[in-house]
Amino acid sequence: MIKLSALLALLALAPMASLSAQDADDAPRWSLAIHGGAGTLKRENMSAEQEVEYRAALQSALDAGAKVLSQGGSAMDAVEAVIVLLEDDPKFNAGRGAVFTWDGKNELDSSIMDGETRAAGAVAGVTTVRHPIRLARAVMEDGRHVFLSGHGAEQFAAEKGLEIVPPEWFATEHRRKQLEKMKAENLAALDVEFKFGTVGAVARDSAGHLAAGTSTGGMTGKRWGRIGDSPVIGAGTWADDRACAVSATGSGEYFIRAGVAHAICARMLLADESVQQAADAVIADVGELGGDGGVIVVSKDGEAVFSFNTPGMYRGRATSDGTNEVAIFAGE
Ligand code: GLY
Repeated sequence: MIKLSALLALLALAPMASLSAQDADDAPRWSLAIHGGAGTLKRENMSAEQEVEYRAALQSALDAGAKVLSQGGSAMDAVEAVIVLLEDDPKFNAGRGAVFTWDGKNELDSSIMDGETRAAGAVAGVTTVRHPIRLARAVMEDGRHVFLSGHGAEQFAAEKGLEIVPPEWFATEHRRKQLEKMKAENLAALDVEFKFGTVGAVARDSAGHLAAGTSTGGMTGKRWGRIGDSPVIGAGTWADDRACAVSATGSGEYFIRAGVAHAICARMLLADESVQQAADAVIADVGELGGDGGVIVVSKDGEAVFSFNTPGMYRGRATSDGTNEVAIFAGE
């Protein structure tokens, strides 16, 4: 006959055993996806050296974000860590290395969103803030406004103690030549660079919170204070813990008209579509309007996907399950 003390000990153990099995099922899972722009990225148009350089840059940015998440950091910090690196890298059209406006300036746009609270911050047309993504975050954290532009945004940056640089910091010879070619040959922005080097990141942290951020110089030869989708919350950037986090890259006018980033999360939330179905459907919609580009999306469950209608997209993803990959061309 089993002793009472042994029976009590077994009863005490039973709930513990089932709790630890449940814990394993619900184990925190982090996930990260990044992009550095989409466009006519074909193997034949890229030297082996360039390809190595782009892959290394994507890997460094991915590693920076993955490090934050693997150490228990927030999705917001991971997104910022990725984008700060890409803004400093002249290969991408954000921060240093941004494209030139028609008037020969670099005007930068950026936005960030927190999926837990749906707090958001965005800036457009800044010319002296080294890391526009940090300025977008400062706007979000300040909380009084969502979207600041131009001189006012720069005054706000100075008040918040963000790093200010001379406008020349962002200028590169390669981008200046693209503008000169565009003007000399009377080309459209897409002819000189059908490659949208906007950068972005989306993440789910181990607490289950999502964040998204995007940063860009816009389009070569932009005029009249043109602003694309990147700083427009709901077009270039969206995060909602109930569905997904999205960052877009592409021909901004079409991404605004399709409300891309919000539309993907809304389809998941309201039409119960999978993250890949929702992303593909919205990119198809952009294509039908005449637009090109792509998105990175992380779902509330941590699935990280890409969708694009161009021959390539600079991209990468990493998860706590061991996925860690960067890619450039379609089909990789
Ligand atoms: N997607 C970047 C822009 O159109 O400005």
